[in-house]
Amino acid sequence: MIESFLPLHPRFVHFPIALLLVGAAFVAGGLLRPGATERWLWAGRWLIFLGWIGVIVAGITGLVDQSQASDTPAVRDTINLHITAGIALLIVFGLALYWPLKDKRLWRAGSRPWSYLALLLLGVLLVLVEGWLGGQLVYTLGVGVR
Ligand code: HEM
Repeated sequence: MIESFLPLHPRFVHFPIALLLVGAAFVAGGLLRPGATERWLWAGRWLIFLGWIGVIVAGITGLVDQSQASDTPAVRDTINLHITAGIALLIVFGLALYWPLKDKRLWRAGSRPWSYLALLLLGVLLVLVEGWLGGQLVYTLGVGVR
């Protein structure tokens, strides 16, 4: 029955990728662009929050699809890396959401919080790695298509 809905995961992965990348761009723009308003940060944080939820949904659907994947060493290793990058995404963007709540001075006018921007950059790189590993699974190893 459930097999007719599989693969499920590819229907859900684009949301977190887009939300996290655009959210990080809005927050970075809000911090770096002269004259940017609070709204940039507000919008960026909401997009990142929705993307963070999206990572959880993508993870759940990924675990469902994983049960159908062939059990070869290459597939296993790539899925393990893919899961690890997914967990790292949750930690990095979770921290990016929590930090401004804990430290209210982080975003005060005129500040350039480079360590916070470095965290966002790390998150963006992780999104790219996560997507690339997913692509390896599908287009190189044939998971979900062969
Ligand atoms: C527990 C976490 C995860 C598992 C077990 C997992 C598993 C998989 C599997 C088995 C595939 C192969 C296609 C399929 O059969 O569905 C795949 C592809 C993919 N995954 Fe994940 N995934 C996880 C998390 C994520 C997250 C968090 C993202 C993005 C933020 C993501 C992005 C992708 C992408 C872009 C593809 C390629 C889809 C395509 O081109 O059709 N995955 N993943």
